[in-house]
Amino acid sequence: MADTRRLYTDLAWLWPMWGDAADEYADYCRHVTGLIERHARHPARTLLDIGCGGGKNVFNLKARFSVTGVDLSPTMLAQASLLNPESTFVLGDMRTFRLDRTFDAVLVDDAISYMTCLADFEAAFRAASAHLNPGGVLVATPDVTRETFRQNKTTATPATSKGAREDLDVIFIENVYDPDPADEHYETTVLYLIFKHGRLRIETDHWTLGLFPLDTWRRVLRETGCEVHEGRYNADGEEYPVFACVKP
Ligand SMILES: C[S@@+](CC[C@H](N)C(=O)[O-])C[C@H]1O[C@@H](n2cnc3c(N)ncnc32)[C@H](O)[C@@H]1O
Repeated sequence: MADTRRLYTDLAWLWPMWGDAADEYADYCRHVTGLIERHARHPARTLLDIGCGGGKNVFNLKARFSVTGVDLSPTMLAQASLLNPESTFVLGDMRTFRLDRTFDAVLVDDAISYMTCLADFEAAFRAASAHLNPGGVLVATPDVTRETFRQNKTTATPATSKGAREDLDVIFIENVYDPDPADEHYETTVLYLIFKHGRLRIETDHWTLGLFPLDTWRRVLRETGCEVHEGRYNADGEEYPVFACVKP
């Protein structure tokens, strides 16, 4: 089925402007690296970033690890490759992909949000754990859980100063809405206000994203057979749960 998420297809050129790769993602990647170093049973050298998108996490991890990224979008993978020519990128669906190798560490970051039902969510973590070496660490970080979801939260984010140019500026407006709190997903609507050569162009995007209770995360991660360590990560005044899962 064709990917209808415009940020990863025809509007992917906007992605480098939504959050600075070398800045905003650096803190998070330092945290991820710290968790891997603390929990790994052997020195970790290789890392698989699942749902690597435009490669902003890869950019911050590649000095420490030999990184491979997997993503569903060829357009995003092309961006990731341009930003990180020294890393390896593979086209794949996080629910079903199988590489013929395993890694010392696996990162499952924001792309897991695209798992919109429990079966897909479980399949993604099974695939992630299948790519982990014994003694290796899988790091998973929920952006939002059923407990932290805020109905109708609307965020406006200006383009990063690095992305914005004299003839181009962008504002990203994102609204989240859950029409049915009893199911496993919610809706995100994005407005892109693109100011180019003195003209305003408005584009829209719509994603369905998964929403699970924290206890579901705990259970699904335990069911991978890993030993699950739960911690917290603080960013922009918000606290997020972080899981470091060690494969026996
Ligand atoms: C917000 S971007 C990830 C950004 C990334 N963390 C970075 O460092 O640049 C989300 C990504 O999830 C990917 N994605 C969505 N569904 C996927 C799936 N089933 N398998 C693999 N990747 C998927 C999209 O193609 C998109 O590139």
